[in-house]
Amino acid sequence: MKISFGTGAAQSGAVQNGAVAVFVSQGALQSGAIQSLDATTGGQVSRALRSNRFNGEAGQILELLAPAGMEASRLVVVGLGNAAKAGLPELEKAGGALYARLAATGETALTVDATSIEGVNVPAEDAAAHLAFGARLRSYRFDRYRTKEPANKKPSLETLTVQTGDAAAAQSRYDRLAAVAESVFFTRDLVSEPGNVIYPKSFAEKAQELTGLGVKVEVLGEAQLRELGFGALLGVSQGSVNEPQVVILEYDGTGGQSDDAPVVFVGKGVTFDTGGISIKPAAGMEGMKWDMGGAGAVIGAVRALAARKAKCRVVGLCGMVENMPSGTAQRPGDVVTSYNGQTIEVINTDAEGRLVLCDVMAYAQDRYKPKVLVDLATLTGAMVISLGHEYGGMFSNDDTLASQLDAAGKTSGDRLWRMPLGDAYDKLINTPIADMKNVGPREAGSITAAQFLQRFVKDGVAWAHLDIAGTVWSDKDAALWEKGATGYGVRLLDQFIADNYEAK
Ligand code: BES
Ligand code: MN
Ligand code: ZN
Repeated sequence: MKISFGTGAAQSGAVQNGAVAVFVSQGALQSGAIQSLDATTGGQVSRALRSNRFNGEAGQILELLAPAGMEASRLVVVGLGNAAKAGLPELEKAGGALYARLAATGETALTVDATSIEGVNVPAEDAAAHLAFGARLRSYRFDRYRTKEPANKKPSLETLTVQTGDAAAAQSRYDRLAAVAESVFFTRDLVSEPGNVIYPKSFAEKAQELTGLGVKVEVLGEAQLRELGFGALLGVSQGSVNEPQVVILEYDGTGGQSDDAPVVFVGKGVTFDTGGISIKPAAGMEGMKWDMGGAGAVIGAVRALAARKAKCRVVGLCGMVENMPSGTAQRPGDVVTSYNGQTIEVINTDAEGRLVLCDVMAYAQDRYKPKVLVDLATLTGAMVISLGHEYGGMFSNDDTLASQLDAAGKTSGDRLWRMPLGDAYDKLINTPIADMKNVGPREAGSITAAQFLQRFVKDGVAWAHLDIAGTVWSDKDAALWEKGATGYGVRLLDQFIADNYEAK
């Protein structure tokens, strides 16, 4: 879908082809836009609104086909809810909902009259850009393996034009958002691909695309990992015929000017998690193709920062393995030695994410000496039980970092909820056999997983662990995505850097 911006109100009567959309705040059915449309259509619009209980609630959409006195094929009225409370996330959702409604109707062009938006507390250019951003995000679909979809079920919308006060200003804001959207799509593609297509080596190959954006891409293979002492990660990988990879993405948008330590992101990249010898039940196991969603978020975020030329220095490390049962797989009870020398008794081979992350986190701190370390992982089923699909869980040893991430979550829409850490939880992973075991008791499963990771965080490093098991995949359509991969984390990390670590 091609997106562009025009200056001035859409001359509703004069839009020659396709659909025209206007916005109405809750209860504001007598707005200027509606009055002018009523004048054009002989009152048809107000009659239609009245006869459909339309009051401008957020998410309400009314469609009028072949409106009288207009050239447009369809007029769409979109409810904005309480305008005073509508921020950028609400405008994105309105744009997404509008796209979803029209995508496969057969319309090819949509003109959105953003000048009809009244009473919101955001600048008009931002409102216009974020409406378009919402539509763009919602337009993603992963359809490369659907070869028999009838043409009349495919999306038909080809152009979106947003009319606003200052088209050039809206366009320049949108350009930045478009780079982020492309990166969200890059992540959604990776997360959607099945385990026979995305495995550690193919993920690493895909990462090479980032070199074109000025990212330095380095890949550590099995031999190097063995030499470096990634014993915990290699233990997970040893049952698979697919070679593990650690993909390192270095982005410096400061032109070498930054003498600060980089912000480091670490992602769990289990390209398929069968559970290993502690094998998972068959029902729903196909979902474990998205157990690389943390790594997907990290690569997407670095891509977004590079694509929009952010003035910051960031390093992303993705720990890529496949967790398989086989004659060479690790056994429950095996003891492995991690990169920093700590020993781990592997009680359950399905608690593999922490084994991958601990080596990559220890290595990242050794090599990059970061002051800030954020890891993202689809780490525990218990996280989904705690927070469902609305929030990612956040664990942190640093209140400032936690509040920065929380704020970025609110702004970006990738929301986070903070969870506790503490000694009483930490004790639960002690074992007489080694320095620690890889699982605690059934209760507080997400917290003991976080405690495990904290044992690999050096003193003085501000660290946050984001357990995103409930948010990387959606079984339902929503305002900004079709069911499937959400791209969660890309916008969050991009916003976090923009707010705190980017030179203006
Ligand atoms: N990748 C899973 C976590 C997961 C499970 C994410 C379900 C989303 C939905 C992780 O590797 C795992 O298997 N964790 C175990 C840990 C347990 C063995 C302590 C879990 O959550 O059951
Ligand atoms: Mn597992
Ligand atoms: Zn896993």
